[in-house]
Amino acid sequence: MNKNHNPKPMLKYLMATLILFASLLSFGQTQKPVIAILATGGTIAGSAQSSVQASYNPGILSVEQIISSVPAVNEIATLEAIQVCNISSQNMEEQIWLQLWKTIDSLFANKLCDGVVITHGTDTMEETAYFLNLTVRHPNPVVLTGSMRPASALSADGPFNLYNAVALASSKEAYGKGVMVAMNDLFFCANDVTKSHTTNTAAFTCPNYGPLGQMRDGKPSFFRENLFIHTTRSQFELKGVDKLPGTEILYAYAFASDLPFYSLIEQGTKGIVIAGAGHGNYNRPFATAMEHASKKGIVVVRSTRIPSGGVDKAAEEYNSIFPVSYNKNPQKARILLMLALTQTKDTKKIQEFFEKY
Ligand code: DGL
Repeated sequence: MNKNHNPKPMLKYLMATLILFASLLSFGQTQKPVIAILATGGTIAGSAQSSVQASYNPGILSVEQIISSVPAVNEIATLEAIQVCNISSQNMEEQIWLQLWKTIDSLFANKLCDGVVITHGTDTMEETAYFLNLTVRHPNPVVLTGSMRPASALSADGPFNLYNAVALASSKEAYGKGVMVAMNDLFFCANDVTKSHTTNTAAFTCPNYGPLGQMRDGKPSFFRENLFIHTTRSQFELKGVDKLPGTEILYAYAFASDLPFYSLIEQGTKGIVIAGAGHGNYNRPFATAMEHASKKGIVVVRSTRIPSGGVDKAAEEYNSIFPVSYNKNPQKARILLMLALTQTKDTKKIQEFFEKY
């Protein structure tokens, strides 16, 4: 070593490097993401007298009580709790949807959180998820979760579902993936998830494409990409909308009556989705009533009561003048038609929406 070498500058340089490295490290320390928990009720907030009985009351526990049942969730995120409502989701309302949209849009637009988890009843969870998937114009994660057993049950599934939903919403991988549903260690795209079992904890499936991925050790593994348009690429705008076009579903079955069509026409319904038998089929009274409704300016879309396979333009006995839902089941086709009708009644344009969303 050079004897004129003065070690002091080297030490100073070494210290400066260490301090810089330490500050970069601490700067680089991942701050916990801020996740807003929006509670709406459902079984995850449900309670029963006994921990083993099947019947219970949904929408009893508060958002704070639900969160306190999962202490581990505070290790992975900083939570903001918001009680939007406390209902069973079969009673979901249009105004609650609009309030959820406004709250989420404002949270993301004002950078008040990194992601949102919505606790929700499972009966209409797939509908709220799809509605938000088409209207929340932000890439931040929105994950819906719930439970099939009430919070008071032996082996309640809500706590782990909530943990997984927060872990998914906190992950960088969830960014830009559209609205998702996290249930029973799996997660699904809002575009195609559906409830397919009335009581089992493995109640959610995606009949056409399978789950989007799974949660293990609080980390998501994606099985595939979601190829449908959603969130930031959606063209549906809710600003200024305080009422959605009335859109209903009519179920086709052996010798089904056409009477409901005429009462919907009288009520001023704007859209009707047919939950057809087989590949979107229906009887002659339906065919006549559908043509009549079309002539009255109501947009009619052919969907199917069959869980998988969807409906394309091929038709059996009748020329298919009606737009088809492709892979959207009737309850999702209704939401897409409802939002499409905020922009147009042109059936060609509406058919294009069903090809993309
Ligand atoms: N009534 C149902 C609902 O709120 C309970 C089902 C559940 O949340 O799992 O959707």
